[in-house]
Amino acid sequence: MPNPLFARKPLALLLDESRGEQRLRRVLGPWTLTALGIGGIVGTGIFILTGVAAHDKTGPALVVSFMVAGLACVLSALCYAEFASMAPVAGSAYTYAYATLGELLAWIIGWDLVLEYTVAAAAVAHGWSAHCRDLLHSFGAHIPAALGNAPFDFDPALGRFVATGAVLDLPAILIVAILAWVLVRGIRESARFNAVMVAVKLSVILFVIAVGAFYVDPANWRPFAPYGWSGVAIFGHTLLGKSAPDGAPVGVLAGAAIMFFAYLGFDAVSTQAEETRRPQRDVPLGIVMSLLVCTVLYIVVAGVLTGMVPYDRLDIDAPVSDAFAQRGLPWARRLIDVGALTGITSVLLVQLLAQPRILMAMGRDGLIPPRLFAAVHPSFGTPWKATIVTAVVVSILASLLPLRLLAELTNIGTLFAFVVVCAAVLVMRRVQPRAERPFRVPLAPLTPLLGIAICLVLMLSLPAENWLRLVVWLALGLVIYFGYGRRNSVLARLRARQRGD
Ligand code: ALA
Repeated sequence: MPNPLFARKPLALLLDESRGEQRLRRVLGPWTLTALGIGGIVGTGIFILTGVAAHDKTGPALVVSFMVAGLACVLSALCYAEFASMAPVAGSAYTYAYATLGELLAWIIGWDLVLEYTVAAAAVAHGWSAHCRDLLHSFGAHIPAALGNAPFDFDPALGRFVATGAVLDLPAILIVAILAWVLVRGIRESARFNAVMVAVKLSVILFVIAVGAFYVDPANWRPFAPYGWSGVAIFGHTLLGKSAPDGAPVGVLAGAAIMFFAYLGFDAVSTQAEETRRPQRDVPLGIVMSLLVCTVLYIVVAGVLTGMVPYDRLDIDAPVSDAFAQRGLPWARRLIDVGALTGITSVLLVQLLAQPRILMAMGRDGLIPPRLFAAVHPSFGTPWKATIVTAVVVSILASLLPLRLLAELTNIGTLFAFVVVCAAVLVMRRVQPRAERPFRVPLAPLTPLLGIAICLVLMLSLPAENWLRLVVWLALGLVIYFGYGRRNSVLARLRARQRGD
């Protein structure tokens, strides 16, 4: 008898479920999907992380880091697109793994995606709160210190937790509650809200490019790669390139591993497959289009930014707006901060949109309690209970806990999911060669293999502690699976019933 841990969910069953009763509303088209993709992508990465990446890891070669991270994402996006066209259901990488690699790996990926969405959403909500505070401050308004931050933080220099003096991060709780309310009300309302945010942030990005270009001094691009072109390490031992005094790798690849965060979000489009009118065509289109638009914008912004200010003078907290202030355009600062805040808002919206849909798919499969996670609201047509649970967890994490440690897990967790999706395409081509594939990854098996290779290199380029944290996180997930999911999964019950017959 085949091992139940590797039981695969039949493709036909997946497609039947998406047509079943507890279905979401099909209202999204290709443009709204692309906007949701851009909504989920452009945010903290470009507006905040670019500073620390260029300053500490890459120098002006940040442009190349963006190209490498973009390539890893484009290759993975093509694999996502093939799957999304074959099985247009809400579970994204989790569902693809269930159909190809079996239940245990599907669970691991589903649990891993919690890192990409819930944990990242908590970190993003925390960043939103900091930006909101700054913006209000610039208008002369203040949030009381006790209500503007998490009570603890982790100080990497001291290696321990320190009290911040605050009680909780109220703005983080409020923004998560508002977005959850929009998301419960309906996918159409959420998509409209997102479209407005995307229009504002794209206008600000175009402003940065168009105005910033006049302030570029090519001398700032020399030396181009002061930290080198590589930066690959394994468990703290540098294999290629240089490392910082703390042992973390530096260089173009190390920068790409960090900037990979800026691209996260395009895969969230695949969780909206069940709400798309023509998913087989539009989901692949939405994934690929949103990613291509953002890749081009990111590369250009990185070039402009490092051309405006010498890389070692880029600000670490607000590099884009500060670069304009340094070049004598302080008025642009507020405009860019508004762009950053709307950008971060839509990223948070899309993360809070994606997570419940993955939980819903896992609930339908019985791996987590279905009554809570698979429930669809009778009038709004949204996974409302899963949305509320996600929002509550994100609020607690964002408002009370130091997220610096967990937030770093997001990149390694997502890279791992991308590796699995690329591998799953290869497996699916072998086990179901005749299945209908409205979209096919071009140049397979080369494209998925290259995707796997680049994602693995980027995983190795991340600071070593991430691997350890990922292992701990996955071990925790296995305890939950063996404690609940294995016995309660729909496939396990089917098997039990068949044995009883
Ligand atoms: N890509 C998203 C951001 O940069 C997660 O905020």
